[in-house]
Amino acid sequence: MTTTKKFQITNAATGTSSELEALSPTLGSDVLNLAPLQKDQGVFTYDPGFMNTAACESKITYIDGDKGVLLYRGYPVDQLAEKSSFLEVSYLLIYGELPDKIQLDAFQNSIMRHTMINESLLRFYNGFHYDAHPMAQVSAVIASMAAFYHDSLDIHNPRHREIFAHRMIAKIPTIAAAAYKHSLGQPFIYPRNDLPYTANLLNMFFAVPCEEFHLEPVAVQALDLLLILHADHEQNASTSTVRLAGSTGTNPYAAISAGVAALWGPAHGGANEAVLAMLEEIGTVDNIPKFLARVKDKQDNTRLMGFGHRVYKNFDPRAKIIRETCHKVLTKLGRGDNPLLELALKLEEIALHDDYFVSRKLYPNVDFYSGIIYSALGIPRNMFTVMFAIARTAGWVAHWQEMIADPTMKIGRPRQLYTGPVQRDYADIASR
Ligand code: ACO
Repeated sequence: MTTTKKFQITNAATGTSSELEALSPTLGSDVLNLAPLQKDQGVFTYDPGFMNTAACESKITYIDGDKGVLLYRGYPVDQLAEKSSFLEVSYLLIYGELPDKIQLDAFQNSIMRHTMINESLLRFYNGFHYDAHPMAQVSAVIASMAAFYHDSLDIHNPRHREIFAHRMIAKIPTIAAAAYKHSLGQPFIYPRNDLPYTANLLNMFFAVPCEEFHLEPVAVQALDLLLILHADHEQNASTSTVRLAGSTGTNPYAAISAGVAALWGPAHGGANEAVLAMLEEIGTVDNIPKFLARVKDKQDNTRLMGFGHRVYKNFDPRAKIIRETCHKVLTKLGRGDNPLLELALKLEEIALHDDYFVSRKLYPNVDFYSGIIYSALGIPRNMFTVMFAIARTAGWVAHWQEMIADPTMKIGRPRQLYTGPVQRDYADIASR
C-alpha cells in the first residue's frame, strides 16, 4: 500500500486545513485516509450504508463493479469456476496461494477428518420444531460450537485459528444437512469421509439408511460450481458482520453465527429464496408486465428479486456463469423444459430492455438463477440460503483470519450523527 496523492480540506469558517493522504491499492480506487479529520477539525464523516467507506485493508477478493470483474486472490472467478474445486478455492482464500498437490491433499484430508459434529450438538435439533427455518437452526448450532471445541479457542494462537478454519469448513455441511433431515423427520446421515466434499454434502442431504443412494455426477459438479461462485465477495454485509463481531475478540464461532444471521436477509443471501417465491408468484410470462409495474411503483414495496447490487453496476460475472450452467445442468438432469427457467429468462430479457432498470444499472445478480439450479438438484427453497452459507463460510473464515492476524486490528466501532433530544431533566411521572 503506497501513498501517492495528497488532498487538502479547509474549514471555510476557521480557515484551518488538514492534509489527507490517498492510499493506493493494488487494484481499484484510491482510498482517502480520514483519520486526521477528527484530530485537526473535530468532525467525523457521515456515510450511511457504508456507500463510500473502506472499513479495512484486505488482500482476499477484488471486485470491479463497473467492468463486472471478480477476483479471488487475483484469480478471475470464471477461471476458478471452470478449472478448480470448492476445496481448492477455500484453500486459496485462506492461505493466499493455490495449493500444490501435497498441500491440497493435506488440506482435503484435514477437512474430511473434521466432518462429524459432537453428538450432543446433534441433539440440539430436537429442540427445534420441524418447520423451524433452517437458517435459524444453523445460526444457533454454530453459535453453540464454542462450547464444544473450546480446546482451540485462543484467537492469538495461529494454529488454533487454523484448526477453527478447518473445523468450520468441514462441519458446516453436516450442520446444514442435520437441519434439513430434522425438517423431514428423517434419520440424520453421518458424513462419509471417503467422498469428496460436495458429494458428501449431497449424500448427507439425500441418502436414507434403508436404500442405496446414487450420486448424480452432474449434480455434484453443479453444486461445487455454485459453492465456488458464492465463496467470497469482499466486504459484503455478512462478511462485514463477521469482521465487526470478531473485532471484539469474541470466539470465532460466535462471529460466524452473526454472519449467518446477516446473510439470511432478502437484500443479501435470502434473495435466492425470494427469487423463486417471486417467479412462482408471477406464474406465467403474461403476468410479467403487471409485476414489473408494481416493482416500478414507488408506493409498492415490491422489488425485482435477484436484480441489482451495491457494487456491480454491470453484469454480475457470477450470474453470467450460473445462467450458462443452468441450461446445461437442467438438460443433463432431464429437466430441460423447466418453466421457471423460461419465465426467468423472459423476465430478465424484458427488464434489461426497460428504462427503469437500464437507467439505474440494475442487472441480474448471482441469485437470479442459483435457486433454479438448487431446485433442480432437489434442494427445497428454504434451504437455498443455507447452501449459500456453506459456500460463504470459506470467505468468512478467511476474512476473520486476516483480521485477527493483523497487528493493527481495532475493535469496529462506528460513530453516529445524533439527531435525538438535547440534554433535558428527568420529570416526575405525576408531572408528565
Ligand atoms: N428492484 C427494483 N428496484 C430496485 C432494485 C430491485 N431489485 N434494486 C435497486 N432498485 C432501485 C431502487 O429503488 C433505487 O431507485 P431510486 O433511485 O429511484 O430510489 C435504485 O435502484 C438504487 O437502489 P438502492 O436500494 O439504493 O441500491 P443499494 O445498493 O442500496 O441496494 C440491493 C442493493 C440491496 C442488492 C438492491 O439492489 C436490492 O434490494 N435487490 C434485490 C434483492 C437482491 O437481489 N439481493 C441480492 C444481492 S446479491 C447478494 O447479496 C448475494
